[in-house]
Amino acid sequence: MRATPLPLFWRLPWLNPLNDVTGWNNLLHTINSTWSLTEVRARVVLRVQECRDMVSLYLKPNRLFKSFKAGQYLSLTLPSNGVLTTRNFSISNAPNRKGLIRLTLRVKADGRVTPLASALKKGDTVRLSQAGGDFSATDPSRGKLLLAAGSGITPMMAMLQHWASQTDRPDVVLLYSARTAEQAAFRDELQTLVHRWPELRVHTHLSAAEGRLSAEALAQKVPDYAARETLLCGPESFMENFAEHYRQQGLEAHLKQEHFQARKTAVQPNAEHFLVFNAEGQSAFSARQGQNLLEAAESDGLTPTHGCRRGICMSCQCKKLSGVVINQLTQTASDAGEAWIQLCVSTPASDLHLEI
Ligand code: FES
Repeated sequence: MRATPLPLFWRLPWLNPLNDVTGWNNLLHTINSTWSLTEVRARVVLRVQECRDMVSLYLKPNRLFKSFKAGQYLSLTLPSNGVLTTRNFSISNAPNRKGLIRLTLRVKADGRVTPLASALKKGDTVRLSQAGGDFSATDPSRGKLLLAAGSGITPMMAMLQHWASQTDRPDVVLLYSARTAEQAAFRDELQTLVHRWPELRVHTHLSAAEGRLSAEALAQKVPDYAARETLLCGPESFMENFAEHYRQQGLEAHLKQEHFQARKTAVQPNAEHFLVFNAEGQSAFSARQGQNLLEAAESDGLTPTHGCRRGICMSCQCKKLSGVVINQLTQTASDAGEAWIQLCVSTPASDLHLEI
């Protein structure tokens, strides 16, 4: 594939000093902490305590952030003990006119990122990825059941906000399990939603008092659940139980799941070569330790779209489906899940699956 004229312009050797992206980013950062040529950065505009252990951050991203759909997630990067650490969080609001992103996180006292994130205050700046994921309802012929536990409520809130803003709303039941009433998030917001949208049914299950949410309790609270398209999100054991129940009932075709735990990918710090697979799982090319993915793909005869080869033009952006890469400009390691990466400045730290 041929490079475009503008990116070729950037490759002229006498423009090298102008191509120092890190230098430009540092300069821009000193003028305005959200300005960047290459990074999605966002300013915290509001912090809200949603319940005893969950906090929402309202973020205003810079112009590099593209957009998102209700149900998607993104990665938040923060410095933790001198190292940049990245975690994925579901976006808990629907796209809105103000362009704000709301991330709601459960604060784990022993976590590496959530205590730092929850301590952010108005005016602080964070780094974000583009939004990713395809957790959404797809069957317009069926009513919806949103089955959530703990912080699994977050993508559901985005979908509820999205549907509430439409004139043709689907038939929706939310069944939300929290340990106690103090740990049930968005109680006021859900009340407001029901006020605006009286057909919406919301059941809150308090597991400390009522026991773990079981298939029997589901059948009792939502007798027509089998006829609904179900979106499931919560802790792994909660999801496994209901996924197994749906399998046993032959209902798996009507179940969509969002796993918070990133697909586990072994980071191999001493490996000399890494394998890169395409979306179908076929081996596409291999990359040496420290080699950028664009160069590695070209060495194996592939021709990915590219331009500047310096992390500026974004022509080489590609969706990583799983695996860990290091951004050579920022020396940040990615999460193991889905993210948009630039092939020309990304080097693998594990085997990868890319949408190529
Ligand atoms: S080729 Fe320009 S950003 Fe990668």
